[in-house]
Amino acid sequence: MKFAPGHLSPDEQVALLAALRAALAEAPLFTPTMPRTGKPFSVRMSNLGPLGWVSDRDGYRYQATHPVTGRPWPPIPERLLTAWDEIGGYRLPPDACLLNWYEPGARMGLHQDRDEQDLDAPVVSLSLGDEAVFRIGGLKRGDPTRSFRLASGDGMALIGDSRLAYHGVDRIVPGTSALLRKQGRINLTLRRVRRG
Ligand code: SIN
Ligand code: FE2
Repeated sequence: MKFAPGHLSPDEQVALLAALRAALAEAPLFTPTMPRTGKPFSVRMSNLGPLGWVSDRDGYRYQATHPVTGRPWPPIPERLLTAWDEIGGYRLPPDACLLNWYEPGARMGLHQDRDEQDLDAPVVSLSLGDEAVFRIGGLKRGDPTRSFRLASGDGMALIGDSRLAYHGVDRIVPGTSALLRKQGRINLTLRRVRRG
């Protein structure tokens, strides 16, 4: 895992947030549901870029359109494309960016990111708003884990040996950032899905 604390300056965070608000007006947050059970995630999602990650009763997948509006996802903001190069340093640009919205109380269970065809490409993550207690382990579900906080502006990459590491978010810590209008956290994960 590569940690890039404070990767986005306060001004960059404000500018990126404005771009994300415009994108969310086009591609509103939706509530994904678990394959088979249909249980809703506590996190709400949207996507940017050519492909977006969705989950519903039929399973997890990447698709080019929003599951509710049927429209293509808005483009990935420029500052995220540069962050991909700066933190991930991969030869191909990202073709998907998942936006996760965590309200206080939302969490994400331990999982691997392995729905991508290109598993050589890193997963680059950026955080905005309240801090998250992020947990990361090894390549097997039962491996020991450790946790640390991801704060607004922090970057992180699952790269190299950690690309398929189990990871999740135990909780967010309300009141740890004044960036957003309300308590909560935005996480952006940039990915290269298709092989070059
Ligand atoms: C994810 O694994 O999709 C999100 C991780 C995070 O919110 O930091
Ligand atoms: Fe993930």
